[in-house]
Amino acid sequence: MTPPPKTFHVKSFGCQMNVYDGERMGELMAAEGMTATADADAADLVVLNTCHIRERATEKVYSDIGRIRKNARVQGREPMIAVAGCVAQAEGAEIVARAKVDVVVGPQAYHNLPGLVARAASGAPVLDTDMPAESKFGALPRRRRVGPSAFLTVQEGCDKFCTYCVVPYTRGAEVSRRMAAIVDEAKALVDAGAREITLLGQNVNGWRDADRNGLEALIHALDRIEGLARIRYTTSHPNDMTDGLIEAHVSVEKLMPFLHLPVQAGSDRVLKAMNRSHTRDGYLRLIERIRAARPDIALSGDFIVGFPGETDAEFEETLSLVDAVGYAQAFSFKYSPRPGTPAAAMDGAVPAQVMDERLQRLQAALNRDQAAFNAASLGRTCTVLIERKGKLPGQMLGKSPWLQSVHLMTDAGVGDLVEVEVVRADPNSLAGVERVRAAA
Ligand code: SAH
Ligand code: SF4
Ligand code: F3S
Repeated sequence: MTPPPKTFHVKSFGCQMNVYDGERMGELMAAEGMTATADADAADLVVLNTCHIRERATEKVYSDIGRIRKNARVQGREPMIAVAGCVAQAEGAEIVARAKVDVVVGPQAYHNLPGLVARAASGAPVLDTDMPAESKFGALPRRRRVGPSAFLTVQEGCDKFCTYCVVPYTRGAEVSRRMAAIVDEAKALVDAGAREITLLGQNVNGWRDADRNGLEALIHALDRIEGLARIRYTTSHPNDMTDGLIEAHVSVEKLMPFLHLPVQAGSDRVLKAMNRSHTRDGYLRLIERIRAARPDIALSGDFIVGFPGETDAEFEETLSLVDAVGYAQAFSFKYSPRPGTPAAAMDGAVPAQVMDERLQRLQAALNRDQAAFNAASLGRTCTVLIERKGKLPGQMLGKSPWLQSVHLMTDAGVGDLVEVEVVRADPNSLAGVERVRAAA
C-alpha cells in the first residue's frame, strides 16, 4: 500500500498529439484534487507520456524511469510512475517486466488514469491498453485555462500503414471526432484564453464529418467562433489534400498560410517501398496547385534518410525535391527500424556513416531554404500573436502567420495580436518593430 498521490507531474515526448493528451491527463488529475508540480523529482506521481516513433525515443523512457527512481531514493521517497502514450500501447506488460512502474495506460484509455492510479496505490501494477469503441473524449473534463495558442485533437489513428511507421499500431484505426463535440471544445478553449487553435490528427486532413464532408467543413464552422483569431491544422497526408481544403486557404481569413505536408523521400522507388501511395510527381503537382491558390503559403515537411535499400542516386532525388519545393521549415530523421513494421524485415540496411552523411547534407539544404524563407520576410508587415515573454525586459515572443518565431519590444500582453514590421531576419527567427495594435 502506498498513500494516494497528492501531487503529479506529466512529461510528454513525441508529437503534438501527445502534448494535447498530456494536458488532458493533467486536467483529469486536477479534477481529482491533485496538484500539478513543475518539478518531476518532487511529485508523488510522475506520468511519462511516451513516444515510440524511433528507437531512441523509446529508450529514453527507460532511462527516465531509472533517473526518477534514483533521484527519489536519494530523498527517501518512492513516487508512483505511470507510463502513458505510444510505448505503453506498444510494449504493455513488457514495461512492467523491464522497469518498476505502477501504471501502464495507452493513448485511447487515459481517461481511466485516476482510477488506475487509485488501484495501483492499493497493490500491484495495473495495465490498461484497451482501444474501446467508445471514445475517451466524452469522459474528459471541460477545458478551463490554456495559453493563447491551443491544441485540439480532432482525428486519431492512421490507416495508411507506411512500412516504417508504428503509429497505425500504437494509435489504432483512423477515427474522426464529431463536429459538435469539437466546436464545443473550441469554444471552451476560446473562453479559457485561446486566440489560436491548431487542429491535430495523425492524418488531420483525413477528418470527415458524419456526412463525409472534409476538414474544410470543420474549419468553416470554427471560423464562426467569435474571439478565435487563427486556425491551423497538422499533420496532413498528401493523398487527403482535397480541393475543398485548398480552397479554404483562400476563403477563410482565419486559416493561417502554413501547411505541414510530409513527403518523406524524393524517389518513386523508395516512396513505393515506404507504401506512401503518392509519387514524387503527384506530390510536386499538388504543391503547385496549393501555391496557385495561396501563393504565400509556407510549406513544411518530414523526411527520412537511409530507408532500407536507399541508394546514393535515390537520396539525390530527395535533395532535388527539396530544391524544387523550397520548404519554410522541415524535420528530418535517420531511418530507425521499428519492431513489427514491414520495413524492419527489409534487406539493404544503410550503413550508419552513410546515413549520417545524408542527414547532414539534407539538413544543410533545409536550413538554407529556411533562412531564405525568413530573409524574404524582411521589410514585410505582418500580424504577430504574442505567446510569451522574451528574455529581455519588455521583450515579447510570438508567431507570424507563417509560423515564424518573432521577437519584439512591446507593452502588448500575451494573447494580443500586434502589427509588426520585420526588421531583422535570422535563420531561425525574426525581429520586429510594432506598428499598430490590432483591437483585442
Ligand atoms: N502522421 C504524420 C506523422 C507521423 S510521425 C505523417 O504521416 O507524416 C512523424 C514523422 O516521423 C514521420 O513523418 C516520419 O518522417 C518520421 N518517422 C516515422 N517513423 C519513422 C522511423 N521508423 N524512422 C525514422 N523516422 C520515422
Ligand atoms: Fe505513420 Fe504513414 Fe500514418 Fe503518417 S501516414 S502516421 S507516417 S503510417
Ligand atoms: Fe510518437 Fe505516438 Fe506521436 S509514436 S510521434 S507519440 S503518435
